[in-house]
Amino acid sequence: MKLSSPRGTSDIYGEDIDYRNSVIGTARRIFEIFNYKEIITPSFEYTQVFSRSIGEGTDIVQKEMYTFQDRKGRSLTLRPEGTASIVRSVVENKFYSGNMPLKLFYIGNMFRYERPQKGRMREFWQLGAESIGSDDPVIDAEVIWILSSLYKKLGFKKLVLVVNSIGCAKCRKKFLEEFKKSLKKSDLEKLCSDCRKRFVKNPLRIFDCKNSSCIKIISKAPDIYSFLCSECKKNFKEVLKCLKRFNIEYKTDPGLVRGFDYYTGTIFEIISEDLESAQNALGGGGRYDNLISQFGGPEIPAVGFAAGIDRTIMLMKQLGIKVKKSAGRPKVYLIMMDESCREYSLDILKYLRELGVTSDINFNNRNIKTEIKWAEKSGYDFIIIIGEDEVKSRSLTVKDIRKFKQYKIDWKTEREKVIEIIGAGNYG
Ligand code: HAM
Repeated sequence: MKLSSPRGTSDIYGEDIDYRNSVIGTARRIFEIFNYKEIITPSFEYTQVFSRSIGEGTDIVQKEMYTFQDRKGRSLTLRPEGTASIVRSVVENKFYSGNMPLKLFYIGNMFRYERPQKGRMREFWQLGAESIGSDDPVIDAEVIWILSSLYKKLGFKKLVLVVNSIGCAKCRKKFLEEFKKSLKKSDLEKLCSDCRKRFVKNPLRIFDCKNSSCIKIISKAPDIYSFLCSECKKNFKEVLKCLKRFNIEYKTDPGLVRGFDYYTGTIFEIISEDLESAQNALGGGGRYDNLISQFGGPEIPAVGFAAGIDRTIMLMKQLGIKVKKSAGRPKVYLIMMDESCREYSLDILKYLRELGVTSDINFNNRNIKTEIKWAEKSGYDFIIIIGEDEVKSRSLTVKDIRKFKQYKIDWKTEREKVIEIIGAGNYG
C-alpha cells in the first residue's frame, strides 16, 4: 500500500527545519523583548468556540472548518486560528484578574479546508500575539510593531504594512447602511452568488471577496473614514501617530476588512508584492474589543496578530533570504575504519558527547574518501579517523576540514587537546 500525506499538508524537514527554527527563534526573542508570555491551547475545541466568534457568515466558518463529531456525538473543530481559543482560555481560567494588559504569544498548527495552492495549505503554522485588557492605541501600535520587527529582523526589505479602522459597532452599522444604499440594482446583479448572500446577511464580507466583478463594485463604495465616530477617529489617528513615533512605515487602506467578524477598530496586514495577490498577506490582525464579553467574560478590550510561518519561509526562500544558523558549534564526525576499531571509537564518541560536542560516527564501512566527502558535505567541521594504527598506539588523528590541518593526539596523555583543537570548550 502506497500512502501519501493528505492534500494540503506537508512534511517539514531538512532546510525547512532550519528556516522554521530561525523564524520561531527570532519571534521568541522579540516576544521576550516586548514581555509576552507563551500560551499553548488545544489543537481542537468545541465547534462553537470558533463558529460564534469568527462569525457564522465568514468563509472560515461556512466552508473551511474541519468539524467532526467525537464518539459521544459532541461537535469538535480543528482550530482554524488561535485568537478564539485564547479568548476561551482567558475567560475559562479568569486570567483577567491579574495585571493588565495580559500579553500572550502562541506558536501552533492551524487547519483550514481551503483549495491548496502556493502559500495556501490545509494544515499550516502560525505564530501570534494577543494583548488583552487595554484599549490604549499604543497597544494597537505595539502589536504592529512586533509584527514589523519580526519581518525586519528576518531580513525582509520590501513589505507593505496596510492599516485600517473598521470602527465600532455603531459607526460600522451606519457605514454598511450607506454602502448598501450605494449599490444599484445593476451592481447587485453583477455580484457573485456568495456576495449576493453576504449583501443580506453580512455586507462587510463583500469587501473580502476576491472575485474581480465584486472588487470593481466595491471600488465605488463610500469610504469608511467619513463614517467613523469621533472616538474611533481619535483612536485611529493616535495609532497612526504611534506608528510614526516607532518609525514604522504604513499605508492606510479603507478597503481592508479581513475575514473575521470579531474585529472592531484597528485592523492591519503585512503584505508582500512578491506573492500572488490572493495569498499575499504574511500576517495580520486587529482589535477585538467585544470578544471577551461574547465568551461570557467581562467587557475588556483586546488586540492581536498572527503571522503565517509556512508562507514566511516560502517567501524567504523565493527572495534568497538565508537563515542565520546558530554560530560556532563545531561538529565532529568519527570514522572507524573497520569493526576492530569499534570499541575504541565508541569510547572517544562517549568522551566527546559527554563534553557536549556535537558528534556522530559512521555505521557503514564505506571507502574512507567517500566518508570524508560525505562529512564535508553534511556540515561537519572536524573528522577523527580511527584505524588499526590508532587503536594499537591509543592515538587519534583529528582533521580540520575547513583549515586543511591535521593533528595526531595521544589518547592517554593529551585527550583534552581534542577539545582545544575543535574549540568546543565552552559548550559543556
Ligand atoms: P489570518 O489573517 O487569517 O489571521 O492569518 C494570519 C496569517 O496566517 C496569514 O496572513 C497567512 O500568512 C497565514 N495563513 C492563513 N491561512 C493560511 C493557509 N491556508 N495556508 C498558509 N498560511 C495561511 C488570523 O488567523 C487571526 N487570528 C489573526 C489575529 C490575531 N487577529 C487578532 N489576533
